[in-house]
Amino acid sequence: MEEQIQIEKLRRSWENDEFQRMHALARETVVRNLRELNGFYIVKTGHGFTRFVESRMKTPESICGKLKRKGYDIDFETAVSELNDISGVRCICYSVKEIYWIARQIGKDSRFTIIKVKDYIRKPKKNGYESYHIVMDVPVQMEDSEQGLKKKEQPDTRMVRVELQLRTMIMDAWAGMDNRVSYKKEKEVSPEMAKRIEKYAKIGRRLDKLIQRTLDEA
Ligand code: GTP
Ligand code: MG
Repeated sequence: MEEQIQIEKLRRSWENDEFQRMHALARETVVRNLRELNGFYIVKTGHGFTRFVESRMKTPESICGKLKRKGYDIDFETAVSELNDISGVRCICYSVKEIYWIARQIGKDSRFTIIKVKDYIRKPKKNGYESYHIVMDVPVQMEDSEQGLKKKEQPDTRMVRVELQLRTMIMDAWAGMDNRVSYKKEKEVSPEMAKRIEKYAKIGRRLDKLIQRTLDEA
């Protein structure tokens, strides 16, 4: 019962307009940056690296689940201070080389503060999961709360945390399948199934290498 009350309280904070707007602006900044980089890449190579880009805000339900799993208190302040993926952007790319190219450009961009990088491509997770994660703080200019009526001398800039996941089409296909059958499921999958999932990840890595070679030759 107490948990239900905590969830409802969190939901109310989550629905705060300013909080939602701040996160939406942060994700938009990252998406716009990917679009610009894609433009440079087209000029440089004749092709874009983006297959597609997704972006999402974590739901209060999913926040509660994650805080619980990690043994934290279920409240708004803890969520904002402890979780890195309240805002998430995912860029699905054609090839691994392109992922590293994007990661280098983002690393060089002084507007972003890189908090941490997880390279699950160089070092895949035990189940085979591959992806390149960048957790970063993105500056967002907030308008005046009184719709700009009050002139401020200093613009109100906030740093908002965003998790960017860079994946190939193959990595994304595997992760989508894994999400449905295994990842964070209450019931553990059978050892036979776990082996199968791992094997598909290996096949995926092979396919990514073949795709890379073909793209390089084209
Ligand atoms: P989460 O609690 O899962 O967010 O993990 P984390 O905060 O310790 O970070 P991690 O980098 O391991 O995972 C972040 C995100 O990557 C997850 O929310 C998923 O979107 C994705 N992810 C990580 N591991 C897996 C996996 O084994 N399978 C799938 N399908 N996705 C994964
Ligand atoms: Mg996550």
